[in-house]
Amino acid sequence: MSNLNWVFLLYTFSFIAHLYTASCDQVSSEDPIGQQKLDQVLQLPGQNFSVSFAHYAGYVTVNEKAGRGLFYWFVEAVNDPSSKPLVLWLNGGPGCSSIAYGMGEEIGPFHVNKDGKSLYLNPYSWNQVANILFLDSPVGVGYSYSNTSSDHLNNGDKRTAADSLVFLLKWVERFPQYKGRDFYIAGESYAGHYVPQLSQAIVRHNWAQKEKTLNLKGYMVGNALTDDYHDHFGLFQFLWSAGMISDQTYKQLNLFCDFQSFVHTSERCDKILDIADEEFGIIDPYSIFTSPCTANYNESNQLLKRWHKVGHISQKYDPCTEQHSTVYFNLPEVQKALHVHQRSASLKWETCSDEVNTNWKDSPRSMLNVYHELIHSGLRIWIFSGDTDAVIPVTSTRYSIDALKLPTISPWRAWYDDGQVGGWTQQYEGLNFVTVRGAGHEVPLHKPKQALTLFKSFLSGTSMPTLKQVNDS
Ligand SMILES: *[C@@H]1O[C@H](CO)[C@@H](O)[C@H](O)[C@H]1NC(C)=O
Ligand SMILES: *[C@@H]1O[C@H](CO)[C@@H](O)[C@H](O)[C@H]1NC(C)=O
Ligand SMILES: *[C@@H]1O[C@H](CO)[C@@H](O)[C@H](O)[C@H]1NC(C)=O
Repeated sequence: MSNLNWVFLLYTFSFIAHLYTASCDQVSSEDPIGQQKLDQVLQLPGQNFSVSFAHYAGYVTVNEKAGRGLFYWFVEAVNDPSSKPLVLWLNGGPGCSSIAYGMGEEIGPFHVNKDGKSLYLNPYSWNQVANILFLDSPVGVGYSYSNTSSDHLNNGDKRTAADSLVFLLKWVERFPQYKGRDFYIAGESYAGHYVPQLSQAIVRHNWAQKEKTLNLKGYMVGNALTDDYHDHFGLFQFLWSAGMISDQTYKQLNLFCDFQSFVHTSERCDKILDIADEEFGIIDPYSIFTSPCTANYNESNQLLKRWHKVGHISQKYDPCTEQHSTVYFNLPEVQKALHVHQRSASLKWETCSDEVNTNWKDSPRSMLNVYHELIHSGLRIWIFSGDTDAVIPVTSTRYSIDALKLPTISPWRAWYDDGQVGGWTQQYEGLNFVTVRGAGHEVPLHKPKQALTLFKSFLSGTSMPTLKQVNDS
């Protein structure tokens, strides 16, 4: 996001080719199945529990010439993986790691403890019902890297989608048991670009090749950047109606920012955004009613308000999880267990890369045309929104969906979880919209149980539970 103002970090790359184990690379090009075996992760440092599922981590080379390698971590379903769909999860940024967020604190089974050294098992992990593939994308994010350093400064939407498609096509060669398997893509935030764009690339590839190696059935995005104009308009309205900004700033934002790109804002708009930041103070914009992580707060660098800081009402929740992940995923023994490449291991692992974010190239202002194409192609498309997020709030998403002008099939109604309103939902022709009440930007972090319910409904293609269904069960 443009409004993430990260610490500036200079990377220095060293060429330490002699350190690599050439044998692995030979296996990878000649024997994908052999590489699958090599990628299996047996035990993670700080993992004092056993798991019933297999998981794998490693790299897929998406461009031989430049040497671009994308890092994945794949967790099979808890029970009977061969009968379960394959789901790719993507976080946004641009520049944020799907391992840091998706795996480490949202939908993955392995969550990091406070000590930054040990793990606990997430009981609401989405691998309860599906095989989940986490991808660090594009290069320069998480453990993904390029041997051509300038690649990290030249990422954009187009190459990200193209590389991700190559990744998937090569990944199913390594995991042929997933060829043709029912396949879904899910993600949040800036993945509101990645997910529809990659879906479009797959649909077009399948159509041109007359094949269904990647048997894409649908996608789901949450608090997703969708259409810059409507997302801005809804954002400012949310900030104002939540009482976070002044009338004056609200007017100025609409005047100078509504028509701006989300990723590449003008200087003038940036100035007003700074004033808005100043006005809403040290709160967590990703979850406005929970306390922010203040552990590293420093008046002079003012990092806090712009980071991915998240909170939770429950006493068990720790708003500083990202800091624990930063400790854990930088441990050399963890990187060794996950087969992290020497090239990436020589850099500090970060939850989000400022380098990738600030140098982002192409970022179309709207995904609405992609939605129209994909709705037409018959994909199952769901959009969800945590309604206490002030980064891409529920109002933004509602304006963006409204702009699609889809007929309503099933009108706005509450959905239920354990007899409580879990949120609201409206079904359109070709698209299902679900809000999650009291959840911030990272819905599965704030409302893990409700998020799993949502994911199950999405996979089965059934509408969200009503009160009656809950009572019956
Ligand atoms: C694993 O470690 C945690 C603390 O890190 C502890 O609470 C838990 O009891 C341990 N579990 C086992 C099975 O040893
Ligand atoms: C990057 O370069 C090293 C050294 O030549 C090589 O071992 C590695 O496979 C390359 N990575 C990719 C993704 O091509
Ligand atoms: C606060 O941040 C500034 C700039 O990053 C740094 O120079 C200073 O040492 C920090 N202060 C504390 C108390 O950490």
